[in-house]
Amino acid sequence: MALALALLLPAAPATAATATGGPFTPGSAGIGDPQYPTAGNGGYDVRHYDLAVRYQPDTRHLDGHATITATATQSLSRFNLDLMDLTVTGVTVDGRPATWARDGDELVVTPARGLPAGRPFVVAVRYGGVPRTFRIPEIPLESLFMPTADGALVAGEPQSGASWFPVNEHPRDKATYTVAITVPAGLTALSNGIPRGSTTRAGWTTWRWASTSPMASYLSTIAIGRWRLDQHPHDGRQTIIAVDETLPPTLADDAVGRTDEITDYLETLFGPYPFEANGAIVDKHDPLLFALETQTRPIYPAGFFADGPNPFDDGIVAHELAHQWFGDSVSVRYWRDLWLNEGFATYAEWLWGEHDGFMTVREQFNQFYDTPVDDLFWNPPPYDPAADSPFVVSVYQRGAMTLHALRLRIGEAAFWRTMRTWTATYRHGNASTPDFVALAEHESGQDLAAFFAAWLTGAAKPPNPDPLPPGV
Ligand code: ARG
Ligand code: ZN
Repeated sequence: MALALALLLPAAPATAATATGGPFTPGSAGIGDPQYPTAGNGGYDVRHYDLAVRYQPDTRHLDGHATITATATQSLSRFNLDLMDLTVTGVTVDGRPATWARDGDELVVTPARGLPAGRPFVVAVRYGGVPRTFRIPEIPLESLFMPTADGALVAGEPQSGASWFPVNEHPRDKATYTVAITVPAGLTALSNGIPRGSTTRAGWTTWRWASTSPMASYLSTIAIGRWRLDQHPHDGRQTIIAVDETLPPTLADDAVGRTDEITDYLETLFGPYPFEANGAIVDKHDPLLFALETQTRPIYPAGFFADGPNPFDDGIVAHELAHQWFGDSVSVRYWRDLWLNEGFATYAEWLWGEHDGFMTVREQFNQFYDTPVDDLFWNPPPYDPAADSPFVVSVYQRGAMTLHALRLRIGEAAFWRTMRTWTATYRHGNASTPDFVALAEHESGQDLAAFFAAWLTGAAKPPNPDPLPPGV
């Protein structure tokens, strides 16, 4: 065992103190999230990812070159990056060759010399292979890097960046991105943020994108294919809506076509839209069974719109756009705080539905409240869901009900102050459930510990604060 480990992890000098800031010790293999012990890494903070990838759909092979600018937060003898499956062929740190080893989904990098705490450094990684697709046997469900009929699509939560680049994969380490995606000419490669043009040479086209606001890695995406594109300015930024060219124009276009209108409405509730661009990506890929709030450009599965226009098709659009505030700008500190994303986005979906005349928030609340108490809906409660299946219905619906109950408990003025102070205070940062409880207590002047315990962690059904009037 000791021998195997020694082979796997090139030993750095255990402790090497220097005048410039020792002792140098290894960064940890996880950032410190109890639910996902190896998610992210310790000892450094990434500022920017500059990614160049080339993808050949025929062979499903991806080649990449990642240049990562980071700052050591401790004096590092070595550090980890997260990377799934792909084969590393070269690593440099500050331009000098470094040694590396793989340990499952960890890439362990040992620089030629220690990295002093507080100093920026640049790590460059060359890699390639067939990126990982997550599949469950027998179920037509996929996530991570998904080859599609006309290209590929990346989506996955709580991790997905590591399926296509080496990364510090945890929302606590956000960074800006520049991405260049090279694909066979004729295909279009989309990503997050602002388009920076494309160039074609020798049968390959390179598409360039920039995310100028910090982004958590699971919110990054690339989407390669043939798209019906609607690009237009709105409110001083570009909105880019991409719908799979093979879809009939009547299916998804109407719902995602309301992106600007819904964003404008959400701004009236939650404050300014937090990002440099906006849009949507709708891909026809049957095993894609979820939408994801990929930053500035949410991904929607065509299957969500497959039955033709439905009265609340735009609910999912409101949900993913609300995530731009809740999840993307204000990100979880720990994944156990997931209701801060899903409960808030679901509540925004209800608010949009009421605004647009679909159903009132009160009706939505009561429809769920009436679910029998022994139903899975109520248990497990929303806070700290199981690591292997965090996307349970209570994180969404009971999370949203928690906000509605809070609104009734502390009143309109304190509630909306809480929501807007939340998005402003933690903009482009991270926050946890205790942070939200503290803010709501501060804005309302009330002790809300028992209230939140009942709604977020209690097994029992809390009393209904907003029953429908008799006869409705
Ligand atoms: N955050 C997504 C949403 O808006 C859910 C993603 C679920 N992810 C998954 N791999 N099942 O609802
Ligand atoms: Zn969601």
